[in-house]
Amino acid sequence: MTDVIERNVHDRLSRVIDPELGKSITDLGMIVGIEAVPRDVIDSGRSIVDVTVKVELTVEGCPLTQTIIDKINEAVTSYPAAKLVPHIDVASMSQSKLTGLVNDLKAERKQNPFTKPGTKTRIFAIASGKGGVGKSSVTANLAATFAALGYDTAAIDADIYGFSLPALFGTHDHPTNLNGMLMPVTSWGVKLISIGMFAGADRAILWRGPRLQRSLEQFLSDVWWGEPDVLLLDLAPGTGDMAISVAQALPNAELVVVTTPQPSASDVAVRAGLVALQVPMKVRGVIENMSYYEHNGEKLRIFGEGGGRRVSEQLTKDLKHDVPLLGTLPLEPEVRIDGEAGRPVVLNDDGTLADTPLAAEFKSIAEQLMK
Ligand SMILES: Nc1ncnc2c1ncn2[C@@H]1O[C@H](COP(=O)(O)OP(=O)(O)OP(=O)(O)O)[C@@H](O)[C@H]1O
Ligand SMILES: [Mg+2]
Repeated sequence: MTDVIERNVHDRLSRVIDPELGKSITDLGMIVGIEAVPRDVIDSGRSIVDVTVKVELTVEGCPLTQTIIDKINEAVTSYPAAKLVPHIDVASMSQSKLTGLVNDLKAERKQNPFTKPGTKTRIFAIASGKGGVGKSSVTANLAATFAALGYDTAAIDADIYGFSLPALFGTHDHPTNLNGMLMPVTSWGVKLISIGMFAGADRAILWRGPRLQRSLEQFLSDVWWGEPDVLLLDLAPGTGDMAISVAQALPNAELVVVTTPQPSASDVAVRAGLVALQVPMKVRGVIENMSYYEHNGEKLRIFGEGGGRRVSEQLTKDLKHDVPLLGTLPLEPEVRIDGEAGRPVVLNDDGTLADTPLAAEFKSIAEQLMK
């Protein structure tokens, strides 16, 4: 009987997926022993069996240890034919085993996973010409919306000087470093990476060389992303270098231009979009932010009118393909207040999409982007 139980437990454990690596814990070599020892007692007609599972984790004290242990417990206790009492013996992998595992994973993944043919990941780079128009707020809320809609979502803070995604997502976590392979930090259902998550020597490495290009490449190749449905990039303001780096590293990336309504923002936004004449990158659409402030049912156009439409029309004309205005977002104090509090304003506390007009607008933008 113990053989049957041990095999059955192994089968169940093979369906437990490591939340960071996205692979089964048995395939990852984390289960190094299963031993079933029956007790001489019966409980409500079922025999009681002690089951010891020996687990080797990749790194000790990894933030997801408890999640994995809970799942192992569940896999053992859900055995139907006997009452299994789990004993989970946790250790960490030897350095040589870990090196082997990381090498296997790296070999399987090759360099930058987003350039391999047939990749399903849709990539949207959020750009603007002018600073401060709300790119980061849009990126954070759009990413949170995608996650709430059930897409496996990742976001890269590509603004290495003015990074803001960790604060907008309220996370102080650091990426786990698995022998040179970094695990993104998950917050509000989104896998995130930002230079703001690195301190000391790690940050110094990212800052060496032609910084922008290099840190983007490192974020793409040294971070274990799995195969997300959507990857968003929050770009630094400006009209040139950044988008060119993105186009080189991510040929499938589509540009989304954020502008505010006034001409001083929309003129530069057009120039940001026209980068697509120099590099093979599609401009997917325009989002107008801070379009109006609603006061007593009246829409006050604080920053003027028409910026989003102007950018959409001009880019459609110059790029000779449709560059639609995907949405217009109101000026709402909650966007800033929740942003400062580290929670995307489009989400409820439990991570579901809020029932608000703003969340509905983000949902509509997300749906258009995925078409
Ligand atoms: N729709 C909005 N309603 C109210 N406040 C907003 C809105 N969008 C953005 N903000 C606020 O405006 C400020 C600038 O926004 P954000 O940082 O997202 O812009 P950005 O384009 O990323 O800036 P940068 O160019 O510096 O990267 C922030 O304080 C943010 O909270
Ligand atoms: Mg920003």
